[in-house]
Amino acid sequence: MSLLVCDFPLVKTAITRLRDRNTEHTEFRRNVRYISRVLALEVSKNFSLNEYQVQTPLEATTGFRFEKEVILLPILRAGLGMLDGFLDIIPNAKAGHIGLQRNEVTLQPEKYYFKVPEIIDPIVIILDPMLATGGSASAAISKVKHLTTGKVYLISVISAPEGVKRVESDFPDIQIYTATLDRELNTKGYILPGLGDAGDRIFGT
Ligand code: PRP
Ligand code: URA
Repeated sequence: MSLLVCDFPLVKTAITRLRDRNTEHTEFRRNVRYISRVLALEVSKNFSLNEYQVQTPLEATTGFRFEKEVILLPILRAGLGMLDGFLDIIPNAKAGHIGLQRNEVTLQPEKYYFKVPEIIDPIVIILDPMLATGGSASAAISKVKHLTTGKVYLISVISAPEGVKRVESDFPDIQIYTATLDRELNTKGYILPGLGDAGDRIFGT
């Protein structure tokens, strides 16, 4: 199973604030950032470390640093809401941007921007709060996989079973971290119970 649900009690209460239709964009944004920090800590458990010697004021001891560079790739727009939370936890990560807009009629992702740091053998973390049909995530992963054979993680705040299934079937080696797994999609491709349009709620549009 490539899905890990990080549903700690504190995350559940933060998601409740996101779900509430009366939550304004300031609080909404703060909670997306908060949940993103938790998800970042969780995914960072996988990072391998190199040892090196460090001198304390008293003696030499073993220290640690990340073996690989971390590249964060938010899917525009809503993924931007997760970026600062990840940078809070992984401050030396580099960041790229993947511009995808889901066509509201066909539900197919349309690409409008793609700029990522040079990818040699890093850890790549794709950020998008909503994994609905999985079309956007799948398109982003496919693009990234053409550039690297390194480990790729997909991180979402809310996932639908349909999206998880799609990504698992397109990319069985991808590990997905999510804060909650919701029930289903409605006929317009929105996650139920969900939180509505994540981009609109983060940016107040
Ligand atoms: C939303 C969301 C995902 C996508 C998920 O973005 O942030 O990127 O839809 O849907 P899918 O799994 O069915 O592809 P949207 O395309 O609405 O763009 P926005 O972030 O600019 O609002
Ligand atoms: N994108 C969103 O922002 N919300 C959904 O429920 C589905 C896709």
